[in-house]
Amino acid sequence: ADPSGVQNEPILEYLKGSKERKELQAALDKLSSQCQEVPIIIGDKEIKNSDVQYQPMPHDHKKKIAKFYYASKEDVKKATNVATEAQKKWDRTSLNERLAIWTKAADLMAGKYRMELNAATMLGQGKTAVQAEIDSAAELIDFFRFNAYFAKELLHYQPISENASVTKNSMRYRGIEGFVAAVSPFNFTAIGGNLAYTPALMGNGVVWKPSDTALLSNYIIYKICREAGLPSGVVNFVPADGPVFGDTITASPNLAGINFTGSVPTFNRLWAQVGKNINLYKNFPRLIGECGGKNYHFVHPSADAESVVMGTIRSAFEYCGQKCSACSRMYVPESLWPKIKEGLLAERDKLKVGPVTEFDSFMSAVIDEKAFKRIKSYIDKAKNSSALKILGGGQYDDSVGYFVQPTIIQSNDPKHRIMSEEIFGPVLSIYVYPDNKVDSTLELVSETTSYALTGAVFAQDESFLKSAVEDLKYTAGNFYINDKSTGSVVGQQPFGGGRLSGTNDKAGGPHYVLRWASPQSIKETF
Ligand code: ALA
Repeated sequence: ADPSGVQNEPILEYLKGSKERKELQAALDKLSSQCQEVPIIIGDKEIKNSDVQYQPMPHDHKKKIAKFYYASKEDVKKATNVATEAQKKWDRTSLNERLAIWTKAADLMAGKYRMELNAATMLGQGKTAVQAEIDSAAELIDFFRFNAYFAKELLHYQPISENASVTKNSMRYRGIEGFVAAVSPFNFTAIGGNLAYTPALMGNGVVWKPSDTALLSNYIIYKICREAGLPSGVVNFVPADGPVFGDTITASPNLAGINFTGSVPTFNRLWAQVGKNINLYKNFPRLIGECGGKNYHFVHPSADAESVVMGTIRSAFEYCGQKCSACSRMYVPESLWPKIKEGLLAERDKLKVGPVTEFDSFMSAVIDEKAFKRIKSYIDKAKNSSALKILGGGQYDDSVGYFVQPTIIQSNDPKHRIMSEEIFGPVLSIYVYPDNKVDSTLELVSETTSYALTGAVFAQDESFLKSAVEDLKYTAGNFYINDKSTGSVVGQQPFGGGRLSGTNDKAGGPHYVLRWASPQSIKETF
């Protein structure tokens, strides 16, 4: 535990026969038996219109768990005005009042709404119980508690007042005039909570566009925060078509910033639009983004093969490889290859792929049809390529859910597309290198892709580790030594990467909250 008393939320295991398993089952039964209607919410107004959308269950895509609506251009514009107005009043509430709301919201997430959040994340986003628990329970709660703690800590740091009888220097942390647009992804419910609510914590007004495929879980977060006491209008819940939303927020003079997680092309487009409109804005908008990754596991000849196998299976295939941190390329020395290959294939064969409602499923379906088609096309190309060999998996079937089997591909060409492009699915690509080519293979890790999100090295050789830390310095924002590339914990491994993976503002780290504050220095003369 941190001496401050702030702690990571303990993770429940949902073992067979446990009380929590029964409670989760009841929540799953409830949510899967209905299609919940979710409105657009702007200020205190709930809007339903004729632009109807549905959130299907990835593991059984004919069934829908939510019916929702796309906001029109006018609705989005209205939301930007409502958030801008709300910000003025909200920024005057004391930090203590805000912290109390965040603490209450975290407690509601940890208690009363834990099972509903997990069930919505499982059914709507295709997560198994364990994967939902570490996301929509633990990580989400941690974001609320740790960001509140970090915000409070900032107040301790005040400038020097050299001659205190004559002057007093101080700093206060204001929100930014205008509104912040939060655009969040499907793959972590917790990220939606962080992107929309951390700017709000710091005194900003927010227009939140949740992902269509995380709609229900994100709506539950919205409702929890209102129940915890957040006034209407501070965060506005605005599902919308991406380009309609992007074009509208970037055309507003009040745009204070964009808090984004998603694809590189979308983030690029938002930057370009902000650039085009730069003379329009009252403030220079802050653009914070986390984008893709092509994360690596690099295995040195001195590595322990067994831990490489277990770590890689988990990193590459948990949640179908749809974590931004998932390992999708691996470099293995020839000397260890027979053992690692045997281990990976044996472990792969044991993985159960099935509906999220079956508690022994290791992984379920990928998020939607678009993802299924993209992943399938990489697998099909591998089937027909002389440079690639499918060692295990390669099957897919979307007749009921969007199921893709965990797939392991060996590439003879270390620069093949499959080693450099983000697939965002359960596909692991491996290049086997000669043991005497450690250095040139390390160079490939850096040169092969433009991303730099997460990476891991496995080795027992201390001198290699020492040099790898330097040689791979800019290849990953989150770097692991003898551990898998996934599973960062709020407050423990602040998360984010550089290069095309984003602006590396480190969600879950102490300084993230500062990105959403506009400090003011005050010199008082007596
Ligand atoms: N926190 C998530 C992970 O590191 C993204 O896997």
